[in-house]
Amino acid sequence: MTGEKPMVPDRSPAPGIPAEPAALLDVDGLSVRRADGHELLRGVSFTLAPGERLGLIGESGSGKSLTALAVLGLLPAGLSAHGSVLLAGTQIVGARDRRLDRVRGRTVSAVFQEPLTALDPLMRIGRQLAGPIRRRRGLRGAALRAAVSTALDEVRLPERVAGAYPHEISGGQRQRAALAMALACEPDLLIADEPTTALDVTVQAEVLALLNGLVSGRSMALLLIGHDLAVVADVTDRLAVLERGSLVETGRAEDIVREPRHPYTRALVESAEAFEAEFDRLAP
Ligand SMILES: Nc1ncnc2c1ncn2[C@@H]1O[C@H](COP(=O)(O)OP(=O)(O)OP(=O)(O)O)[C@@H](O)[C@H]1O
Ligand SMILES: [Mg+2]
Repeated sequence: MTGEKPMVPDRSPAPGIPAEPAALLDVDGLSVRRADGHELLRGVSFTLAPGERLGLIGESGSGKSLTALAVLGLLPAGLSAHGSVLLAGTQIVGARDRRLDRVRGRTVSAVFQEPLTALDPLMRIGRQLAGPIRRRRGLRGAALRAAVSTALDEVRLPERVAGAYPHEISGGQRQRAALAMALACEPDLLIADEPTTALDVTVQAEVLALLNGLVSGRSMALLLIGHDLAVVADVTDRLAVLERGSLVETGRAEDIVREPRHPYTRALVESAEAFEAEFDRLAP
């Protein structure tokens, strides 16, 4: 780690008061509204400790992506965030671009469902990867080229991918390249919004296992978004369940899978189990 990280404000407690573990991400009463005042996200609160892996699950339209976008300060025009999102001590809600630029790609980076959105179609993969590595680690020349090939190797991409344009590689390879780009920034928090949904089932499992290994190997925190409870629970420590813009349940992933409390979560667990049974029946 370099000394160029944003300063985290000193939150040490007064003497005699036990220290709370500092949250890397502290979302408190986050709401997202349309211009007409309609609330798409209502009072969402959760925290994420350094190195922790949190899964955010819920049906399509429940507000998972809006939560991710609000944390990144990337809400689309016409939507506004209210409440508080503290990322390594920096307030994201209402922040101007300059403050956001300092945080993005350093404290936090993201991979989305469609990897093409993260990749420049007109630039070879190697050059795209070199950008963040140079910025983050100040490498040049041969050292930079070596770092690019290490970054590709980590996501199990052959070296020749460096010379390819995004359209010349497969969907699974593109998602790995997007993951390599996000990791190259060495963020403290990686947000992955349905990173495998666009891939076919066998590649999905591979990419998720890869993601999991890379995150745990770096003590990087992960906010993993998905709609498949069982899949997300497999690679996270805690789960937060969104239903129509509100969090209805949070807890340890294994507890929620074993004993969901909220009826909505129960329905999600049951539909995941039914799907698995059906899958086993069709592909024994
Ligand atoms: N730019 C926008 N303008 C208006 N409404 C929006 C906008 N983006 C999203 N919404 C609405 O906000 C709600 C939550 O959307 P969001 O994209 O967060 O859902 P999601 O949980 O990520 O769903 P999915 O699993 O399909 O990706 C949806 O009802 C959606 O229609
Ligand atoms: Mg989404």
